[in-house]
Amino acid sequence: MKVLVATEKPFAKVAVDGIREVVEKNGHTLALLEKYTDVNDFYAAVADADALIVRSDKVTKEVIAHANNLKIVVRAGAGFDNLDLAACTEKGIVAMNTPGQNSNAVAELVMGMLVYAVRNFYNGKSGSELMGKKLGLLAYGNVGRNVARIAKGFGMDVYAFDAFLTAEQIEADGVAHAVANQAALFETCDVVSLHIPATAETKNSINYDLVGKMPKGGILVNTARKEVIDEASLLKLMGERTDIRYITDIMPDADAEFKAFEGRYFATPKKMGAQTEEANINAGIAAANQISNFFATGCTKFQLNK
Ligand code: 3PG
Repeated sequence: MKVLVATEKPFAKVAVDGIREVVEKNGHTLALLEKYTDVNDFYAAVADADALIVRSDKVTKEVIAHANNLKIVVRAGAGFDNLDLAACTEKGIVAMNTPGQNSNAVAELVMGMLVYAVRNFYNGKSGSELMGKKLGLLAYGNVGRNVARIAKGFGMDVYAFDAFLTAEQIEADGVAHAVANQAALFETCDVVSLHIPATAETKNSINYDLVGKMPKGGILVNTARKEVIDEASLLKLMGERTDIRYITDIMPDADAEFKAFEGRYFATPKKMGAQTEEANINAGIAAANQISNFFATGCTKFQLNK
């Protein structure tokens, strides 16, 4: 079987080597399409692939239409808003993700960006500390839990809300305090870190009203998806509330407008959350193993389009 790795933002070499080893050990062949800039190159590469590994690469209806032999696509990562699941299902293609494999990398970046922000981007001016501050986690899944664990080490007081978990489930590990709803999280916390997927319900949900509930000096951290932010209303709020800061690993469409808020806004030039050797190895090799198991035994653990 031919396994294509199509990554506009490539994995670290050590991860590609690991993926190759798993694929070849299982009797398959590996094809690589890295740093492509023309979607036609993706269409051409996927034409005879039996399996596909991607990151945030968009697996659209068109990609699926060009895939004549495709049986399985694995998003090496957590968020799968880049996969057209209906198009996969229509063609009988199994779609999977690799939940949890890159979550520590994202969580470490959250804390790194936070320190960078509270120390005024290392500009020499006196900043503030995280110890004793209240951190709110919007969603308490794999990434949220890792952020909570690390934030505890900083001496932060951790709160969480998750639409799919009860207060008992959130508090079971003894790290975070559950709050009743999203609004309460923003009202309570000095820092709110987003760990929600981009879905019909969450798109544009982080807005003027919600962020406006934050106490003085509130910091919003986004390592989730840019689509969850209502950019126009956040810009409006930051214009009115000169104390609010926005730190993001996903550059907003309105980057130029946000940049006007000097000292209160930071965006990484390219999404860096999962961009570590360890996360690339974990997610990439998990994807290769899931594909190999699927071909060997029909295993569909982590299938998204059941
Ligand atoms: C994820 O959903 O797993 C993360 O956002 C990482 O995305 P990436 O593979 O594009 O870095």
